[in-house]
Amino acid sequence: MSASAASTGAASDRRARHVAIIMDGNGRWAKKRHLPRALGHQRGVEALRNLVRGARELGLEVLTLYAFSTENWRRPEEEVSDLMGLMKRFILSDLDEMADNDICLKVIGDYHAFSSDVVELIEKALARTADNTGTTLVVALNYGSMDEIARAASKAAENGAITVDTIAAELDTASLPPLDLLIRTSGEQRLSNFLMWQAAYAELWFTDVLWPDFTPDHLREALDEFVSRERRYGGR
Ligand code: FPP
Repeated sequence: MSASAASTGAASDRRARHVAIIMDGNGRWAKKRHLPRALGHQRGVEALRNLVRGARELGLEVLTLYAFSTENWRRPEEEVSDLMGLMKRFILSDLDEMADNDICLKVIGDYHAFSSDVVELIEKALARTADNTGTTLVVALNYGSMDEIARAASKAAENGAITVDTIAAELDTASLPPLDLLIRTSGEQRLSNFLMWQAAYAELWFTDVLWPDFTPDHLREALDEFVSRERRYGGR
């Protein structure tokens, strides 16, 4: 464990293993500065890059980021295209660094709905980092919880009984440790169709900070608070 990892919690067994983030507020960040929304998303990618570096330094096991929801298709075509462009550029510019830094990339959601060039890049990135054992970076792409649960339930039904366990085994996150902490930036306090099943016993942490201003220090603050919370899972 690195020195900074140790500083994120006195009782190491209570440290969060899996943190997810709803990266919200790119548009408002840009609006406040009279800049185009696209620039807010661009700065959002920079925050994402910094946070992945920070998560690795903190020794976080899994970081899951909500990058594109099943509802985001409803945004104007130009914005959807900006987000796709940013995604492509991010993979092209950052894949080497992630691969060298032992980041294992995973995707949840049905990214096959994206254009073939994006799908190809995503698959290249998944294959290139598949054997890495450091921090797992899970990117939610064309992801929605309701869609995920419906897909999992139909697979469970094909195989026999629908139970909590058989659904859980078919979720996109089945191979990941349980979600410990869910963070949302920008002052909004909703799940917005993100990890609703997985959040059943997760701790929630909200901040007014807009996503482009979110730094690894904010993540550290959330992780420190997580350690101090008492989790009872419905027991006492
Ligand atoms: C919310 O801001 C953010 C998103 C809808 C997308 C998040 C995407 C990124 C950080 C960059 C693209 C992702 C990758 C993987 C490169 P908002 O537009 O809803 O902000 P607002 O609520 O202030 O309008």
